[in-house]
Amino acid sequence: MSRTNPNILLVDDDTDLLKLISMRLVSAGYQVRTAENAENALSITEIAPPALVITDLKMPGMDGMQLFEMLQQRHPTLPVIILTAHGTIPDAVAATARGVYGFLTKPFDSQELLEKVEAAMRLSSGVVLSADDGEGNKWRQDIITCSPEMEDLLRQAHLAADTNASILIDGEPGTGKELLARAIYRASRRSDKPFITINCGALPNDLLDAELFGRKADKHGNNAVQGAFQAANGGTLFLDEIGDMPLSLQVKLLRALQEQKVMPVGASVSVPVDVRVISATYRNLKEVLDANKFREDLFYRLSVVSLHLPKLTDRREDIPLLVRHFLSQLSSEYDKKVSSIAPEAMDMLTAASWPGNIRQLACVIEQAFTLSTASVIPTVLIQKALREETDSMPTFTDARRAFERDYLVRLLKMTGGNVARASIKANRNRTEFYKLLQRNNLNLALFKNPRRINKI
Ligand SMILES: Nc1ncnc2c1ncn2[C@@H]1O[C@H](COP(=O)(O)OP(=O)(O)OP(=O)(O)O)[C@@H](O)[C@H]1O
Ligand SMILES: [Mg+2]
Repeated sequence: MSRTNPNILLVDDDTDLLKLISMRLVSAGYQVRTAENAENALSITEIAPPALVITDLKMPGMDGMQLFEMLQQRHPTLPVIILTAHGTIPDAVAATARGVYGFLTKPFDSQELLEKVEAAMRLSSGVVLSADDGEGNKWRQDIITCSPEMEDLLRQAHLAADTNASILIDGEPGTGKELLARAIYRASRRSDKPFITINCGALPNDLLDAELFGRKADKHGNNAVQGAFQAANGGTLFLDEIGDMPLSLQVKLLRALQEQKVMPVGASVSVPVDVRVISATYRNLKEVLDANKFREDLFYRLSVVSLHLPKLTDRREDIPLLVRHFLSQLSSEYDKKVSSIAPEAMDMLTAASWPGNIRQLACVIEQAFTLSTASVIPTVLIQKALREETDSMPTFTDARRAFERDYLVRLLKMTGGNVARASIKANRNRTEFYKLLQRNNLNLALFKNPRRINKI
């Protein structure tokens, strides 16, 4: 599609009107494609995105407004003009407040139509969402945003993706650090090689050592661990919660990064590796540095490129977009049609404080979605979900840790501290089971002596 001959998608269930408007647009030099319903329009947009969509508001099945909302999720910059009959003007005004480019009241004259179309084209500056664009943006397709600050960040991320530079991503919990790390990996030349994640805060020192750098088999040929660096060879290693890494291992990590070689636990010869490191932290690493809990030399090594994810309250414009995104994900996952939320509820979400950022927003929407029996989620359900989230919900990580510990305590009580039996019941091998015990600070001896169990 060329700039001089932009493509317009026209959607109306009235075929006579489709023909009439097409003729006018074609004679003005535009290419026109038509769809008699919104569902077809969506398919056409997926195959070859147009430069502008003009749609009727009232149509059987999905209406013009729902079509706009679906389009906005997939192509936030695609302008949409809505055609309305006289009586639906208030709806159309509300629609422009939600981001529709403009509306035309039927019957309209050709001049008015062409002026509106030209203005919309100027706004999108003739930049067409070509199929190429879609491909080129595939790496970031999971990151839903319309925030200029995020766009800036994504531009930097894309530039950095192409290099081998170490990247440090920081941001509050739930802001999408891991999502961004995966996107960078997808955009990089290493995308056909492994992406390995290690959570540096979840393992005790010696286990983290082996998980990162590997462990040589013991003299019986057992307990060898490959290590994340070797598993990620040629690809990308994502070091999550890097701020929690113990100081003693920081030295070893620094050496591995400098020399591109790792020394497995128990080995005497180092192994060459080719690994790109992306790390993430919810802590302010500068503060951790000042408290002498993080090595400065390692910090500089890890943060050749440093990317800061803004918190959700600094990009509130993303909230409606994210809400629609989560709703459409949930609707298709559970085959239950919930298309939107009450406008008042949307206002509430946009104004909320979001300490858990996007992860928390996703939880609120999921809860309201689950309880909703209507296709538009009522305000009370959002109110309830927001209250519960802010009042009593622990973070997912805390909830998972609490569950893990309770489960292990019950299992060990049941088996009297017998690891062989307990690990079979948990369907974990013994090494993994010992790791779980260590991570939860559980002392086996206590379970073998029933009188001491109450102390746990
Ligand atoms: N821009 C976004 N668009 C869509 N989904 C997002 C976006 N940002 C985050 N999410 C979703 O929110 C959840 C949290 O994201 P992620 O795990 O990447 O955050 P995080 O910063 O690593 O969180 P934590 O600090 O808790 O580990 C995930 O389910 C992710 O898919
Ligand atoms: Mg994370």
